[in-house]
Amino acid sequence: MKTQIVTIDSNNFNTTELKEAAEILRKGGLVAFPTETVYGLGADGLNTEASGKIYAAKGRPSDNPLIIHIADFNALNELTADCPENGRKLAEAFWPGPLTLIFNKSSKVPYSTTGGLDTVAIRMPSHPIAYELIRKSGIYIAAPSANVSGRPSPTKAEHVIEDMNGIIDMIINGGKVDIGLESTIVDVTAEIPTILRPGYITEEMIKQVVGEVEYDKAVLSRVQDAGVKPKAPGMKYKHYAPKGDLTIYEGNIKSVIDAINQSAEEKLKAGFKVGIIATDETFSYYQKGSVKTIGTRKDESTIARGLFEILRDFDSEGADYIFTESFSNNRLGQAIMNRLLKAAGYHIEKV
Ligand code: TXA
Ligand code: MG
Repeated sequence: MKTQIVTIDSNNFNTTELKEAAEILRKGGLVAFPTETVYGLGADGLNTEASGKIYAAKGRPSDNPLIIHIADFNALNELTADCPENGRKLAEAFWPGPLTLIFNKSSKVPYSTTGGLDTVAIRMPSHPIAYELIRKSGIYIAAPSANVSGRPSPTKAEHVIEDMNGIIDMIINGGKVDIGLESTIVDVTAEIPTILRPGYITEEMIKQVVGEVEYDKAVLSRVQDAGVKPKAPGMKYKHYAPKGDLTIYEGNIKSVIDAINQSAEEKLKAGFKVGIIATDETFSYYQKGSVKTIGTRKDESTIARGLFEILRDFDSEGADYIFTESFSNNRLGQAIMNRLLKAAGYHIEKV
């Protein structure tokens, strides 16, 4: 298949290309598009055949449900069996934006989209291209991250092209995304809202709206624990993994730098390619291997934004071993560490 690649300016999105993208989606095709979190791979969420193509393109297990993207609050009536008070409050507070809510599904939502579950994940994205694409298409768009299953989520169109060129109908290049980590997922079907996947909308922000919030056990465990089955099926799969062997070093920053420098030297001597994930603050303390800065510790949103890109960049360089510093586990740091731990297969060295 020839994939059409078009560039659309987020400030001037009223183009024939966007109309064409909407038309492809209406006809059951696949279009990758930017959102404020990561690039999504869209298809008609209520069309079983169309959403089936998503699973094929990504190589995604069929029990891993899709998020349905909407652009209008009325969609909730159509897609959900009921909208609990907490769900309504959170939607009003954070939509459009990087929050996905889990509701009991209506009969309109096919099981092929929900991976056989009786619940449905819904999100209203704020990115102007995503929002306008949904509106123009007039349908609800199921969209997982636009990466091949298991690879880091795409934060630039180039990443989508790497994974999806020749496999889908269209890729919309809308530049680099803003947040860089996937949406926070909150299950509002239970009495107390439960965070299934941490993201840019933090626990503190959610608490301010609904008072109480819980965590799915799988989010909190910092080690891979076979006994804990995540409520978001996607969280159980190996994910975000670079091709190289990634290790997180945790401890005071001086010891971390020393340990990484030492491991880098050992691996380089043995003939391997080594990548080091540093920050603006620590960059100059590493002398060997390929050293890249992920962002600044003064602003964790820069680290969130750089994470998936740096993992892909080390893939392109063919790094055999990647060593990274660890980050605080507060606020957005929680989402960063959640992704980093998964990417590392929970391999942490405490120093
Ligand atoms: O930011 C995002 O959420 C991006 C952009 C494109 O919107 N999308 C995204 O989709 O991250 P995906 O498919 O990569 O991740 C969706 C996650 C998976 O872990 C899946 O298991 C979970 O949401 N999920 C979907 N429906 C669910 C449901 N009914 N119950 C529990 N978890 C669900
Ligand atoms: Mg994904």
